[in-house]
Amino acid sequence: MHKDVGAILLNEAEIKARILEMGAEIAAEYKDKNPVMIAVLKGSFIFMADLVRAMDMPSRIEFLGVSSYGDKTTTTGAVQITRDLDCDIEGRHVIVVEDILDSGLTLSYLISYLQNRKPASVAICTLLDKPERRKVEVDARYKGFTIPDAFVVGYGLDFAEQYRNLPYIGVLKPEVYA
Ligand code: PRP
Repeated sequence: MHKDVGAILLNEAEIKARILEMGAEIAAEYKDKNPVMIAVLKGSFIFMADLVRAMDMPSRIEFLGVSSYGDKTTTTGAVQITRDLDCDIEGRHVIVVEDILDSGLTLSYLISYLQNRKPASVAICTLLDKPERRKVEVDARYKGFTIPDAFVVGYGLDFAEQYRNLPYIGVLKPEVYA
């Protein structure tokens, strides 16, 4: 275990098993829809890579680069698009892939942003859900794990751009970020 991690919340085997279930569930519902899978950078890059390999079906892979304005304390949750999609999503079924749903501000903004482009449907797939922190209601169609309000890192999630490469989800020791 990394020296800055106090406890492992979800180990590699648990994450892998859950993603296999999620991939199968999505595949059953989207088999003939060729959905556009949109990973929201950067946190979701590892989840996206494992999720699409668990989906035995055609899909298009896209990346959306976003950066939050300020500290996400306002309820507008406006985010800046730093890298846009490469394709037109009008009439397409879209699945937004996130590592974590926290306040909900990022996803609620992104859903409106994507809806303006007139997709056939938009669903959210998040690996982690921290409902205690929610500020706006966001409905995630697919959820991997509901977790407590702890400072988690690893499997794509960072603190100050570190720890994204840890193969598990761990709770950061308080002294690291205090
Ligand atoms: C994280 C995560 C979501 C967002 C969720 O991204 O990937 O995009 O925060 O938080 P919210 O529900 O409170 O809006 P972050 O801003 O840490 O950027 P990163 O993915 O590049 O690490």
